Amino acid sequence: MDMILDFNGLARVLTVLARGYLFADADENLRARINYARRALCAWCSVPDKKKASPKEEWQFKSDFRELHGEFLELVDEDGMGWFCRHVHGIARFMKNNPDKVSKTAYGKADVIDKEFDAAWRKKVVQFQVPIFSQGTSGAWVLRFDDVLADALELGPLRNNSIDLPDDILNRMEALRPEKVPAEVIRTLVAYYIANKPEDSEWVVLPVTNFDAYFGSTMFSRKWLPAIPESIIMRERERTTVKVILVYWSGTGNTEAMAQAVAEGVQAQGGEAALFTAGKFDVDMAGAFNAIAFGCPSMGSEELEESEFAPMFAACEPELKDKPIALFGSYGWGDGEWMRTWTDTCKSNGAILACEPVICNEAPDEDALAQCKVLGGALVLAGK
Ligand SMILES: Cc1cc2nc3c(=O)[nH]c(=O)nc-3n(C[C@H](O)[C@H](O)[C@H](O)COP(=O)(O)O)c2cc1C
Repeated sequence: MDMILDFNGLARVLTVLARGYLFADADENLRARINYARRALCAWCSVPDKKKASPKEEWQFKSDFRELHGEFLELVDEDGMGWFCRHVHGIARFMKNNPDKVSKTAYGKADVIDKEFDAAWRKKVVQFQVPIFSQGTSGAWVLRFDDVLADALELGPLRNNSIDLPDDILNRMEALRPEKVPAEVIRTLVAYYIANKPEDSEWVVLPVTNFDAYFGSTMFSRKWLPAIPESIIMRERERTTVKVILVYWSGTGNTEAMAQAVAEGVQAQGGEAALFTAGKFDVDMAGAFNAIAFGCPSMGSEELEESEFAPMFAACEPELKDKPIALFGSYGWGDGEWMRTWTDTCKSNGAILACEPVICNEAPDEDALAQCKVLGGALVLAGK
């Protein structure tokens, strides 16, 4: 569906096609083979002109390649309908005729695909032919046949090395295979690994989208791959962004200014900052984040602000164990006693203090804001 609606993954398909035709006849000279493969791509992509379309001038790129029917019977019919176009309309027809067999979303799109695909595809096919160094902007940043052919030349002929796995490996895989993952999936993965392992690394790049295409659905990426245990395939953990919550209370804006600087520090270190005032924060939100920064000025008599911040913080206390946190806040006439008490409370709850608390007298000066930024960055590092 993604390929039909957004042309996702098309480059891979075209490259496979080009590799097939490019290396079909190794005797011909290279230029002739490239031209042959280019004609095959045109035939595969062909889309009939609109009935009323005026004939193309010699210099114009066209999208109807019916004249290639004689050379590529299987790729384009005599009315200019290429393989891909025929396939897409076939899918749309199937969806319309079998509403019970396809998803609701797919069914809803069948009509649009049938009516609008050809026009969108004509534009694409024209873009594919724009030369790489064209002066015009039409086709800038898009996929072209030139790119596809270059990739195909680099990748070489299509391979068909079926790999026979020894019985003992097959048996071991079978014993480790989770029930919901078909045996064929594991066999294909292992065979792919063996066929593609580079000499200088134990790791193989897994083209997950290609596997989805191979198995004909997204079950591979969504269900099967996550279910395969590490004893069969180890994947490097995805690098996700560290999310930091910033919860603060501020009566006259001093602590708020500090919170803004903390947020900047989080972002500068590549993290994501979510700012909440104490009244808007609920302890249940804490689970979705990797680290927390708490900000509160000294209020009462060297205490946390009592009506909103203190109750919110008390509710968070049981959740602080082993959580990276950091504290900041502004004070007036005291000597920072409230922060010392607060820090001790956090430590006794088992929290991991990512850095020393940052305090400042009344409005934060440049130095205090810089310290707040460092605090934000430290939380991102601690939250990894
Ligand atoms: C009701 C109240 C109580 C305060 N108690 C203290 C205190 O005990 N010690 C202190 O150093 N400053 C105290 N202050 C001063 C504030 O902490 C200071 O003005 C701070 O910059 C306010 O931060 P904010 O702008 O984020 O609200 C108090 C201020 C108020 C309004």
